[in-house]
Amino acid sequence: MAEVIKRVATGVKGFDELIENGFIDGSSVAVIGAPGTGKTIFGLHFLYQGLLNGEKGVYFSFKQETSSLEMQCKQFGWNTDAKKNAGIKFVKLNGVDLFQEIQRLEDEARIFGATRVVVDSISDLMEYLPNVAGLKKLGLTDADGTGPLSISPKDFARRVNTIFIDRMKRLGTTTIFIADSLENGNTLSRDGVTEFTCDGIILLKATSLGDELHRSVEVRKMRNTAVAGGIQSVSIGTKGMSVGSTR
Ligand SMILES: Nc1ncnc2c1ncn2[C@@H]1O[C@H](COP(=O)(O)OP(=O)(O)OP(=O)(O)O)[C@@H](O)[C@H]1O
Ligand SMILES: [Mg+2]
Repeated sequence: MAEVIKRVATGVKGFDELIENGFIDGSSVAVIGAPGTGKTIFGLHFLYQGLLNGEKGVYFSFKQETSSLEMQCKQFGWNTDAKKNAGIKFVKLNGVDLFQEIQRLEDEARIFGATRVVVDSISDLMEYLPNVAGLKKLGLTDADGTGPLSISPKDFARRVNTIFIDRMKRLGTTTIFIADSLENGNTLSRDGVTEFTCDGIILLKATSLGDELHRSVEVRKMRNTAVAGGIQSVSIGTKGMSVGSTR
């Protein structure tokens, strides 16, 4: 008998049916977009759906204050207070050292008992370079252990990114890595590597057409999943995000 793959619904109305009803349990998915395209709201939906299912989730943020994230949930009418076995924990990271941040993420998620994690954003995380002690712990020093590996910054970023994603996978959480995109960049994400290391890529866009802002989503990659749909329209309103025809 074929193995049944467990799927993790995002809770974004109209989205899950595009990807066989959800992400593969334990996978890592990049949600990529320019500022204001809905990345954070997508991530919050994902954790709120977990809460509704009786799961725990952690939202790690570098720039946005936890009070602002909580306010966004309240605006959508969501009660995110932690219950005994379910809840959302908001954690603001302050980015001192890359290794410490990766370790803190892992520890917080493990201790809280999270099955779902959102990292907002991996682009911010990648800006923190590790000190030599951190590099050693990440196995990223030259043979003599004195300095960073003599490789190109892009290869270095790829190594760090892969190590981080592997660690989250080992924890067993299903993880959304939010990544910034540059409006006219020639890579999907600002760091240029997240799109390769993650199992899935979701692209969020917002384009002004005349006096209207047109929002859209495209599933560019989702390993082991039949993807429906091309570019779909997105709307954000009082109940959060929804995907599909809005008129
Ligand atoms: N209650 C609401 N009703 C309608 N639209 C809303 C509501 N709350 C937020 N929005 C819209 O959703 C947009 C996307 O928000 P979100 O914070 O998810 O973007 P983002 O991609 O995470 O941006 P950034 O890169 O700056 O963090 C906001 O700019 C706002 O226009
Ligand atoms: Mg955001």
